[in-house]
Amino acid sequence: MAIQKVGVVGCGLMGSGIAQVCAAAGFPTVVREVSAELVDKGRKGIEKNLNRLAEKGTITEAVKEEIRGRLKGTTSLEDVRNSDLIIEAIIEQLPAKRELFSALDKICPPSTIFASNTSSLTITEMATATKRPQRFVGLHFFNPVPVMKLVEVVRTIATDEAVYEEIVAFGAKLGKTAVRAKDSTGFIVNRLLVPYLLDAIRALEEGAGSIEDIDNSMRLGCGHPMGPLTLLDFVGLDTTYYISQIMFDEFKEKRFAAPPLLKRMVLAGWNGRKSGRGFYDYADPQKPRALKF
Ligand code: 3HC
Repeated sequence: MAIQKVGVVGCGLMGSGIAQVCAAAGFPTVVREVSAELVDKGRKGIEKNLNRLAEKGTITEAVKEEIRGRLKGTTSLEDVRNSDLIIEAIIEQLPAKRELFSALDKICPPSTIFASNTSSLTITEMATATKRPQRFVGLHFFNPVPVMKLVEVVRTIATDEAVYEEIVAFGAKLGKTAVRAKDSTGFIVNRLLVPYLLDAIRALEEGAGSIEDIDNSMRLGCGHPMGPLTLLDFVGLDTTYYISQIMFDEFKEKRFAAPPLLKRMVLAGWNGRKSGRGFYDYADPQKPRALKF
């Protein structure tokens, strides 16, 4: 059975982006948040993105209205139960995710496929909160979701082969390149990206170069769209710290260990762009100013 209707649980940065691309790809999409304020906030973010696309002429006003028409916000979990696929994008905490999937498992028909957008938690551990581990996958998107062309489609040892292929095809329908990954902590991207980002912090700690020089080196020397310290501020230092702890716990390898400076910045609340300060100061968001350590 092909996927026709999509449910997204969580309408933060990732959930709203996921809901936007699903609706843009033609899927009627219901997105659920815990409060009307959060539904509204997520919806406003999507509206802003769609308006920008229409102003640039990437989509017509008519297409914009069609996408808006396919999106429905709700605070009730019941409203996503008739979706063929439910994508979870809530807080990165295993107990919260297990609780959600257990609740969904009870109200959804047995045919519904469940997917998690987790970046580093184990998919198998979420699937076992349900009675349908064979219909459970990882679907890991990248920030900003409407722009980044990749989605990692993650299978566990219990995922049904036909279900998996259906989700790979779904990823392609969203206009993404769907890569196949196993349920190994960090999947493919974070397994490679996280040690690189942590190494950039170690390079700064050891005085290999200034913040700007480290960033310019990778941006201009290797053609990356952002240098590693800018990317850390963009992803969030708290998020990266959290992922590194999960990866270190799994692999016990030094390359996944959080450098002391990262820990101290997170303790100080310097979480990057979203908190106004990370490796750069964002008092003027148009002109980030590199800090000195
Ligand atoms: N939402 C929607 N569209 C956005 C956007 C957003 N938040 N931010 C930028 N865009 C669009 C712009 O409208 C523009 O579209 P156009 O080409 O049609 O005009 C396009 O993206 C380029 O934007 P800008 O010209 O403003 O700026 P840049 O050229 O610097 O691009 C960027 C911004 C796309 C964020 C680019 O810097 C980039 O690719 N950075 C790297 C991002 C990255 O690595 N993401 C992955 C993070 S890891 C992750 O998410 C996994 C997790 O598990 C940690």
